[in-house]
Amino acid sequence: MHHFSYKNGTLHAEDVSLVTLAEKFGTPFYCYSTATLERHYQVLADAFGELDALICFAVKANSNQAVLATMAQMGSGMDVVSEGELRRARAAGVSADKIIFAGVGKTRDEIAFALKENILGFNVESEPELHALSDIASSLGVTANVALRVNPDVDAKTHEKISTGKAENKFGIPFERARELYAAARDLPGIEATGIHMHIGSQITDLDPFRHAFKLMRELVLALRLDGHVLHHLDIGGGLGVPYRGAIDEPPAPTEYAKVVSEAFGDLGLKIVLEPGRMIAGNAGVLVSRTLFSKREGKRTFTIVDGAMNDLLRPTLYEAHHDIWPVQERASDAPLIEQDLVGPVCETGDYLARGRALPSLAAGDLFAVMTAGAYGAVMASTYNSRPLVPEILVKGSSYAVVRPRQSYEQLLDLDQLPPWLS
Ligand code: LLP
Repeated sequence: MHHFSYKNGTLHAEDVSLVTLAEKFGTPFYCYSTATLERHYQVLADAFGELDALICFAVKANSNQAVLATMAQMGSGMDVVSEGELRRARAAGVSADKIIFAGVGKTRDEIAFALKENILGFNVESEPELHALSDIASSLGVTANVALRVNPDVDAKTHEKISTGKAENKFGIPFERARELYAAARDLPGIEATGIHMHIGSQITDLDPFRHAFKLMRELVLALRLDGHVLHHLDIGGGLGVPYRGAIDEPPAPTEYAKVVSEAFGDLGLKIVLEPGRMIAGNAGVLVSRTLFSKREGKRTFTIVDGAMNDLLRPTLYEAHHDIWPVQERASDAPLIEQDLVGPVCETGDYLARGRALPSLAAGDLFAVMTAGAYGAVMASTYNSRPLVPEILVKGSSYAVVRPRQSYEQLLDLDQLPPWLS
């Protein structure tokens, strides 16, 4: 559920008209809804209310300071995958003891920085990383709390580029080696393996892959306990999907997901850590763009718009579907035209929607690309020297620019000339 809806024929984010925002700040822009972010966090927190759970928002999904601060105010922890994300989380007011540092390629500098911040723990993805962490923590005279990320080799039945829990993926340690590596960890100085981690992929809309992985993880936790390891927490990662196509790809409700978690682990006395990203931020954001031109070539209608793959990469990278809603509401019987919504970037792959039956979008018309709050702005680039677009956060009838549009000066100032050219 989200808080983008038509009021008097105009699409609003909560009580703010997207036309007002477009006129004031220009297009394209991202718009986020506070009520939606808060609702999603709360629904998840309530679903896991019976379990001892910590929600760590996956910063990679949306790292805007205002979004992170909104989550922090709700009591959320954060899952970070770089020093940059860790700094963002800290700057947004998240206490270090609610921050988990994950990721397959942490540098020594990043590890040292996180140790000095005294974060809650590290999700470790390989044996060499375990040794590096042990080394650095010992030299700093501290102890790092560690969870090994175990790859359970299950098929998450999602897009191949966002599937992470199969043996051929680069993530985690193989399931069969887990006991051996926990044994190795016990003998290393500077680390204490107090948890265990898994994350099998993203945009998962079926509970079976979770059930399968949880069953394996449960067996592993029991085996590790028999081996004498004291495990306090289990981090089940993120991955719960969102409905990109309305009712067609409806994911399971958080309560159903929580039930599966509880059935698998409820009796083990483990703290459960969750790392949701998309489920919190996905449909809390839209990308608003305007039609520039419409052209008909043969049988195809190209609607050329001012938003492009550099602003929202998901359609290009994953063939992802995002619903398109005209900002001015159309009659329910308005004729639909099959069209390609394409951006100005010089790439054939630059589209926001392809072969989509939509009402006509004439030059000047505004539309919203829905469910763009996760992996939208964070994956934007300045390709074709297009400045990064603004991000606007709405709360009720209030709104604020939480990232201004990049100016051409800022864009050009990123480069500098070598002495022989200046
Ligand atoms: N934890 C770990 C270890 C992860 O790798 C991820 C996402 C998450 C949590 C959060 O997953 P979520 O709850 O958002 O599914 N750019 C892609 C998604 C990449 C996800 C990467 N890892 C997309 O736009 O679909």
